Amino acid sequence: MLLNKSRIITTALILFVLLLPASAPADILFTESFSDPAAYHDAENISILPGSLNAKFHRETGDRIRIQDRTHGVTYKLDKAIPSDPQPDDLYISFCYRVLSDSTKDKFSGLVLYNNGSEVFGLGNDYVSQNYSFWTSDGQGIPIGEIPIPVDKQVHQIVLRITANPDGPERIKVGLDPFCRRSESRQPSHIWTEYETELAFDELRLRSGNENSVCEFDEIRIGTDWTSVTLADNNPGEYISKLTQQMAAPQTANRIGTSVARFWPDKPVGYYSFALNKKRPPQGPVPSGWKLEPNFGTLDDKQYVYVSIPAEVDLYGTGEVTGSLMRNGKKITLFNKDNYGYGEPDQLYQSHPWVFGVRPDGSAFGIVFDCTWKSQLDLRAGILFTTTAVAPDFPVIVIEADSPQQLMHKLADLTGTMPMPPRWALGYQQCRYSYFPDARVREVADTFRAKQIPCDVIWFDIDYMDGFRVFTFDPNHFPDPAATNEYIHNQGFKSVWMIDPGVKHDPGYSIYDSGTEADVWVKTAVGDTYIGPVWPGDCVFPDFTSPAVRDWWADLYKPFLAHGIDGVWNDMNEPAVFNDKTNGTMPLDNQHRGGGELAPGLHIRYHNVYGMLMVKASRRGIKDARPDKRPFVLSRANFLGGHRYAATWTGDNNATRKHMELSIPMSLNLSLSGQPFNGPDIGGFVGDATPELWAHWISAGAFYPFSRAHSAKDTADQEPWSFGPETEKAARTALQRRYRLMPYIYTAFRKAHKTGSPVMQPLFFADPSDLSLRNQDHAFLIGPDLMVVPKWSAPGPMPKVAWQTISLVGEDSSTDPYQCDLKVRPGSIIPLGPVVQTTEQINRSLPLSLIVVLDQQGKASGMLYEDAGDGYGYQKGQFCLSIFAAHRQGSEVIVQCTDQQGDWAAQKRLVSVKVVDANGTHHGFGDIVSGVKVSPDIAP
Ligand code: GLC
Repeated sequence: MLLNKSRIITTALILFVLLLPASAPADILFTESFSDPAAYHDAENISILPGSLNAKFHRETGDRIRIQDRTHGVTYKLDKAIPSDPQPDDLYISFCYRVLSDSTKDKFSGLVLYNNGSEVFGLGNDYVSQNYSFWTSDGQGIPIGEIPIPVDKQVHQIVLRITANPDGPERIKVGLDPFCRRSESRQPSHIWTEYETELAFDELRLRSGNENSVCEFDEIRIGTDWTSVTLADNNPGEYISKLTQQMAAPQTANRIGTSVARFWPDKPVGYYSFALNKKRPPQGPVPSGWKLEPNFGTLDDKQYVYVSIPAEVDLYGTGEVTGSLMRNGKKITLFNKDNYGYGEPDQLYQSHPWVFGVRPDGSAFGIVFDCTWKSQLDLRAGILFTTTAVAPDFPVIVIEADSPQQLMHKLADLTGTMPMPPRWALGYQQCRYSYFPDARVREVADTFRAKQIPCDVIWFDIDYMDGFRVFTFDPNHFPDPAATNEYIHNQGFKSVWMIDPGVKHDPGYSIYDSGTEADVWVKTAVGDTYIGPVWPGDCVFPDFTSPAVRDWWADLYKPFLAHGIDGVWNDMNEPAVFNDKTNGTMPLDNQHRGGGELAPGLHIRYHNVYGMLMVKASRRGIKDARPDKRPFVLSRANFLGGHRYAATWTGDNNATRKHMELSIPMSLNLSLSGQPFNGPDIGGFVGDATPELWAHWISAGAFYPFSRAHSAKDTADQEPWSFGPETEKAARTALQRRYRLMPYIYTAFRKAHKTGSPVMQPLFFADPSDLSLRNQDHAFLIGPDLMVVPKWSAPGPMPKVAWQTISLVGEDSSTDPYQCDLKVRPGSIIPLGPVVQTTEQINRSLPLSLIVVLDQQGKASGMLYEDAGDGYGYQKGQFCLSIFAAHRQGSEVIVQCTDQQGDWAAQKRLVSVKVVDANGTHHGFGDIVSGVKVSPDIAP
């Protein structure tokens, strides 16, 4: 053990002993700044990389460190005997580098440790991407995580930590710290990897790798703690420093709500906010002591807004993004993109110019960059928002809040809340590209019911159409859509049918002809109708910026829905256009006519809200056609505030474990960006899921707010039963759990509708002051009281007070290979219904159960919201909101409905109660209005 440990820290100790007084605490062992080209050349005749990082080259002498000639890079030879005491436990090596190459390819850098000429381990990227790996001595690469390739000549700092493990072979941890400059304990976990090995090294080489790389290295430090090797200040890097010098404070600043301020670079200009649900007139000056003020500037044809934030703030939100939950260090392009398989992970289908910050004390802030133009959010050094200089001035809204929860409420005050969805949309949904022909739809529906796997919705992808013409039906394969819908309706299913924005360019096709007559199509720069290819071949595109075009579009839904269609799926609405290699969309100088409050404008201005305007029109059309029903629209593209019109799914993900894991932080960040109703394609869209992957995915996917399985055309079947009995069983159990939780889930959606509180919440919502919960990428909450810990998630920190694990349908998640642990927050009461096959079976005469977990004071509370599940009666009082409370009284627990609101309040309600504590589950039954007593003596 000691031998291993001492071998690890060879270098550190040599330097430690030589550089520090014996009594000094272990700290910085060695620093070297270099890259003065002249000195470097003179010293070693090495071709130093051009440029300088403002650091003076300092050459170490003696036998401790020797600079050797290498074609690409610098080698430090570390060749002294191992001293004995004192021994630091950890050794950190850090270096800074910046890349001067333009192309992503060739941006390679790394640091490698050698022992007697052989590579022991190292870290670096892979020449072509921003994925960093840790390389082991046997050549294996352990992915550490993606780190944005430094652009704009910014400096990255990379830190490698070697941890001595007294209980076995050394573990080493590798971290990359692009600008975050946080303490090690606050590093997002995904950028650390652990590796067990026996270590020894005597040489340290920096590499700039590839022939064409142009990198600069600077400031190697070796130390025994994080702070000794990372930079103490929060200098945001040269480029941002340069920018901020040219920026100015806002010229106009107003309060527009309680702790909500709006800033303009200059005088306010007339503008229409897509994000906000109504105009916000100024309410007075910004309160004194306001913490975050954006600075504005224009440079190199770009507009910049920079918000300086302390390094210890955790960032979230930013909409639909891949990667870790915590967004510090990320760069995101806000330009809606059809992104099959997420080829470019920093640019997806939706844009949310919104950053959600949480300070160490749990207080929070949010920033809306109220701009629809193509832009970028760069969170690598503070918050930098960039758009093109030709965009008109736009305001920046800053919200201050006492807690992350309050921030969500305040965001919803500004953007509006999600409309109450029909309850059936909260059920499980089965989709594929495509169920085809109609007989296959009936077969799938029959099988769900025969196998007693709960499901509410069957989806119809583009193959139901006649030659992919929207609002038509294939006469051979879907000759009678009304009969198909009736068939599945009779079994308690709803149907959702796809409508894309691209209308086939096809004179004689009624929709094309009517749109042409009404002159609805987007125009090219020279004023011709723009034509671009999508699924049907050449298409024309409605210009949804025009109110008249939105009216035309809305009116198309009435005859369509008359076939018994329940919901609408708007896809390809970035809009996706197949012949554009750069953005996958129409030319950016295409013209939109605007109208109403919207100015005419180029596509680059309206691209990000094309999908939002489309679903706004779709939703209205559906509502007009069926005023007594709640519309359900699913959209692929959208923009901040677009939750007012449509739910979302996260597009064409892959049937891989990685994408399953990514789906949780994706859904969480969408939730923290004001879109509560979201979820990915369960099972993965691209590629074939294995039985095991699908079983794991459905087990967690049963708890996404939007829970739908979907897969691409050429993939193997992905119905719950397609993978064999084990996966089928996992799916049945998982979905039975969802349906049993439906009263709780419906109540969570109602909270989202009333207050903006997300349905799916990150773990840190359980205790915003507990910093260990801030970067939990896998475990999540549904509502405030229920935690979902996927079976596949690595063990991570949990809230300090122990939550109680529950079983809902007889499952034992501690032994089940797939089912997530479900844990209930102490102090809460969770309402449950029975397992049903479809939400249509839900009504108030079904038995109701309550799970009660008392807090340390012996108390708990909860609520249940019930209404008709569709329609608008609830707006006229036809609902019941029950408030439950429980308290310990002697050896008993009393559970009671303390308040009922709404016309459905009842004098009496028989309820079964389970009090769960460390000793097990204790049962009671009785009228909840007068109170149910649960005594631990009552046998289960
Ligand atoms: C897009 C959608 C996908 C759909 C396919 C065919 O790729 O993202 O969900 O199945 O188009 O309509």
